[in-house]
Amino acid sequence: MVDLHCHILPGIDDGAQTVEESIELLSAHRKQRIRSVVFTPHFNFERTDIKTFCNRREKSLELLSASQEFIDLDIQVKSGAEVYFSVRLNEEELDPLCIEGTNYILIELPVTARPYGLTHTLRALLNRGYIPILAHVERYPYLAEDPTVLYELVMQGCLAQVNTGAILKDNERTAMAMKYLRWELAQLISSDTHSMTKRPPNIKQAMSVVENKLGGQYIRWLDKNSEDVFNGRYIDLPVVKKPKKFFGVWR
Ligand SMILES: [Fe+2]
Repeated sequence: MVDLHCHILPGIDDGAQTVEESIELLSAHRKQRIRSVVFTPHFNFERTDIKTFCNRREKSLELLSASQEFIDLDIQVKSGAEVYFSVRLNEEELDPLCIEGTNYILIELPVTARPYGLTHTLRALLNRGYIPILAHVERYPYLAEDPTVLYELVMQGCLAQVNTGAILKDNERTAMAMKYLRWELAQLISSDTHSMTKRPPNIKQAMSVVENKLGGQYIRWLDKNSEDVFNGRYIDLPVVKKPKKFFGVWR
């Protein structure tokens, strides 16, 4: 299995702070048979620039890679970023922010309101050959209120990821996460691991919940999708039905 979204690199954002913490998180991943991990520290155009971010990320990775315990874990890792949405995305060369060696770029949206230029900016990214992956898509109220917005983005070529933590809880976000998966409007699940207490590594538990609720075929599909993204392969998405509202409920 693969984790495409986590904050395990030491000392770079609000995730792991030390190499020891990173090792603990990666060991927990390894016990759940996670073989490949993309490190996706937060990137925000308001706070830094791509070059500075990449230098810090490289130093953090070097620190981790030098640890014998890390080598012993025998886990395949790639660099990436969780990029906060900005219309500036289309003014910059984004290859260094993509999942290493691929055109996939993980994008976080604001929670409070649909950002100005969302559809236009993502479409322009697609036209440039990038494939945006919308991070923890269950979090955004404006998508839950009108899932046809997500539908249109996915039909244009974007992917969407849900957090394992949302699947394992039992609240409104859980309900949306399961709906997005069932509708195949979300094609990826990832841990968004920050620490052993805040969003811990829990892909295995989340996968078994998905299996119980939606069936084994979803597990195989999700697994394959994550693997394809990790390896930079194109995912040929099925044509899905546009969500419709019946008696006040999106179905
Ligand atoms: Fe994240």
